[in-house]
Amino acid sequence: MSELASRVEGLRRLLERYEHEYYVLDAPSVPDAEYDRLMRELQQLETTHPELQSPLSPTQRVGGKPLAAFPGVRHEQPMLSLDNVFDAGELQAFGRRVGERLQQAVESLNFCCEPKLDGLAVSLLYVDGALVRAATRGDGSTGEDITANVRTIRAIPLRLHGDEWPARLEVRGEVFMPKAGFERWNAQARQQGEKPFANPRNAAAGSLRQLDPRITAQRPLAFYAYAVGVAEGGSLPDSQHERLQCLKGWGLPVSEAVARVSGIQGCQAYHDAILARRDELPYEIDGVVFKLDALAEQAQLGFVARAPRWAVAHKFPAQEAITELREVEFQVGRTGAITPVARLAPVSVGGVTVSNASLHNADEMARLGIMLGDWVVVRRAGDVIPQIVAVLPERRQAARCRPVQFPENCPVCGSAVERLPGEAVARCSGGLYCAAQRKEALKHFASRRAMDIEGLGDKLIEQLVETGLVKTAADLFRLQESELAALERMGSKSAQKLVQALARARNTSLARFLFALGIREVGEATAQNLARHFCSLELIQHASVAQLQAVPDVGEVVAKHLYYFFRQPHNLEVIAQLVSPPAAGGAGIQWPALSAQPAQALPLAGRTLVLTGTLTQLSRDEAKQALQALGAKVAGSVSAKTDAVVAGEAAGSKLAKAEALGIPIWDEEQLRRVLQNPEAAGFASD
Ligand code: IVH
Repeated sequence: MSELASRVEGLRRLLERYEHEYYVLDAPSVPDAEYDRLMRELQQLETTHPELQSPLSPTQRVGGKPLAAFPGVRHEQPMLSLDNVFDAGELQAFGRRVGERLQQAVESLNFCCEPKLDGLAVSLLYVDGALVRAATRGDGSTGEDITANVRTIRAIPLRLHGDEWPARLEVRGEVFMPKAGFERWNAQARQQGEKPFANPRNAAAGSLRQLDPRITAQRPLAFYAYAVGVAEGGSLPDSQHERLQCLKGWGLPVSEAVARVSGIQGCQAYHDAILARRDELPYEIDGVVFKLDALAEQAQLGFVARAPRWAVAHKFPAQEAITELREVEFQVGRTGAITPVARLAPVSVGGVTVSNASLHNADEMARLGIMLGDWVVVRRAGDVIPQIVAVLPERRQAARCRPVQFPENCPVCGSAVERLPGEAVARCSGGLYCAAQRKEALKHFASRRAMDIEGLGDKLIEQLVETGLVKTAADLFRLQESELAALERMGSKSAQKLVQALARARNTSLARFLFALGIREVGEATAQNLARHFCSLELIQHASVAQLQAVPDVGEVVAKHLYYFFRQPHNLEVIAQLVSPPAAGGAGIQWPALSAQPAQALPLAGRTLVLTGTLTQLSRDEAKQALQALGAKVAGSVSAKTDAVVAGEAAGSKLAKAEALGIPIWDEEQLRRVLQNPEAAGFASD
């Protein structure tokens, strides 16, 4: 091989490894920029030396022209479906049938337990380790050739790793859109007035059914392998669980949640454990699958109709339900954004009763064509607010339905509702004249992560605004015990406590104060960066847009929000009242002077930590803030770059991953020690 050819091959191997680390292991070992640099080098070599080009090169994932239609593919082995069970009794019955047919005690049999992913089943054919064809399941005997689209999914290797694989190997699995990608995609679609996906399954199916692979390439799709179909010219282990481990070793993604258990008891325990973690999983599942682990036992049991006798899907409660839309209310948020909220006839969705759902904005309402009295499909998943994903016009009773009008005036203060060109959100133009915006601004100001005023809850704030006692944040600090005690549902004891809490809240930090002001798009991290960069409120107030943009994480949009906020006379007046000393009639809010300590000098600067499980002494938020204040970055997922994982109670897959990667694991006690003395972290100084 020429030197050039071996450099090209070396680059491909390296890029394949980095893609695997990034998309499959979720543990990148090099910065993105390094990956990009190598990719450019490879592209350049392939362009200048066309004889070295190969369809298996990482540069060739997206290519080719849009198709006119997908050719049909006949599956060499049919792609079957699964029988379902819905409760413990039905699972027991499945176990009994298996035990009887094998004439064995079912509790002594091993089962491979897998999450049942909610996406689209695909078949991948590898010949001599190279991906040559990908097909949908179709009707089980004939599917569609979607090779060009599947090649764009970076979690799927174009070449298998190692060399022990069968010469012809058909891998089956599920293409799906992880929750985070789904939410991000839909938020963007709604912003741009486009149609969001109703659920992650539609998202996966819709993305794979694109005739132009360049469109599929933009969709955040992932894949998990769950079975082997055809396998010729090589051997495979004779257990499902071991087969999956083999596939994993060849670079194919396999869910971390796969486990081998014994007996139906083990299956039921697995079901319960995964169901309890359902909302935490990064992808949506509609149940779990139990497969008899030994292939010999599978062969003994065989199939009925279109499903195997040796496997079963234990379904979870559905995350969608149908109910009636009773009313639409328009809520006004802190920044005046007006959100339509659907009031529904209460309905159980995935085990939780839902009676409210978001309708997002006017475009979304128009797209759904929603009317009061309509039957709607409501969907709830994870911790996102339930949403209305569809209207069922065929169930509409014209006599009972009325159109919903998006208000032209703020439902709270009557000010005009404005919608800037290119923006999906409509806003009340009343600013702090609007009682709703005032209430929300005060709730934010008093909240735990902002000024942390103990005992000043949402209800009390509403009462204070409605009675006219409080208009601005500065008014809070002028409240007298006697005024408070006179309020409904307020005793003299709580009045006294609140006045004391307000006095305590006067001592804060610049970052908290900035965050508390509720400037658009200025969250905690941005507030901390601003405080660290400028060290003084005055300097921030007088900074130009360009100066503000010099702060980490502050782009043009945020810089402009900040700039305009500090040019509003009303805001300046309230700030002056908040920070001037009590002797001058102010609230006397103060914070320790900050010296210009560059972020790099903080004791945990450059360190990345991950929090997982439940902490008992402090909340995750508090732990996160405290670590950030010491300069650490707190990340959401474990990777090779993680310096330590703080594991609270009932920590799950992140802990397992940290253990697998050999990352230091701290318990809560160790975290407490580090927060008191960062040297206890034991990080080598570098
Ligand atoms: S095994 C012979 N395993 O569920 C068994 N299927 O109802 C064939 N699915 O079309 C399927 N996760 O799309 C199997 N771990 C898993 C699965 C799974 C999701 C889907 C698959 C299939 C459907 C069967």
